Amino acid sequence: MAQAVASSTVTRTDEPVLRTDDLVAGYLPGVNILNGCTVDAYDGELIGIIGPNGAGKSTLLKAIFGQVRIRGGAIWLKGEEITSLKADKLVAKGVGMVPQNNNVFPSLSIEENLEMGIFQSPKKFAERFEFVTTLFPELEKRRRQRAGSLSGGERQMVAMSRALMMDPSVLLLDEPSAGLSPVRQDETFLRVAEINRAGVTVIMVEQNARRCLQICHRAYVLDQGKDAYTGTGRELLNDPRVTELYLGTLAADEDAKRKGPATAEPPTASGFTA
Ligand SMILES: Nc1ncnc2c1ncn2[C@@H]1O[C@H](COP(=O)(O)OP(=O)(O)O)[C@@H](O)[C@H]1O
Ligand SMILES: [Mg+2]
Repeated sequence: MAQAVASSTVTRTDEPVLRTDDLVAGYLPGVNILNGCTVDAYDGELIGIIGPNGAGKSTLLKAIFGQVRIRGGAIWLKGEEITSLKADKLVAKGVGMVPQNNNVFPSLSIEENLEMGIFQSPKKFAERFEFVTTLFPELEKRRRQRAGSLSGGERQMVAMSRALMMDPSVLLLDEPSAGLSPVRQDETFLRVAEINRAGVTVIMVEQNARRCLQICHRAYVLDQGKDAYTGTGRELLNDPRVTELYLGTLAADEDAKRKGPATAEPPTASGFTA
């Protein structure tokens, strides 16, 4: 499949930045996790991917990023087929990925982590460092600090910045708010929205369905490896089929909201705690 990729010269007008077309993929022989998944992200969009645990959300991002065997369908980046390309090629072509776990090098400093993000074009380091520290000014102040000594929320900022170093055409985020306190979750959503406003097309997988739908332009509900519903964030928030199917998640979110943040710690202007 990858061979067909290199020679592909399809150009279409109003091309999505990223498109997965009827994607079928899985880990074990004979077991498909993605069952015909079609997702588009157009230039400048913030796309949310929600759905129950095990629906295949992480698998979708991993499949885009060349980490899961693709058995059917195709992936397109700005009109070029990128199906089954390896991660290093995808990064060079403009796909940035922030996995849910182990997304920073803990023994390296913040600055070294960012260098790792752009090792393919080290000459661009200064220019890109300036871009990411405009979004995350606290990273510049603490550039020599070891990433392993940072809080979960801070590590998430470093991981997103690392992926942004290559100036990606599309940024894939797997549950950036997972494991964070409600306050830090809110902050993370604000940061993702800022990254998007800075012109980066984002595809964000989220377990916090309500918050995700509130900030994204459009979203897809994944169910058993298929895009079951799609619409604007607002449409899906008001779609009884979606709220019914995911009432558990949405109700739990509402519950958490009523109870207020679990921590009394207020968000700092910079997003970092002292
Ligand atoms: N490395 C793997 N090997 C085999 N099965 C896997 C692997 N990773 C995930 N799965 C299975 O794929 C399904 C979808 O998982 P995942 O994409 O992580 O779901 P989600 O992110 O929506 O919670 C689950 O049934 C999970 O057990
Ligand atoms: Mg997942």
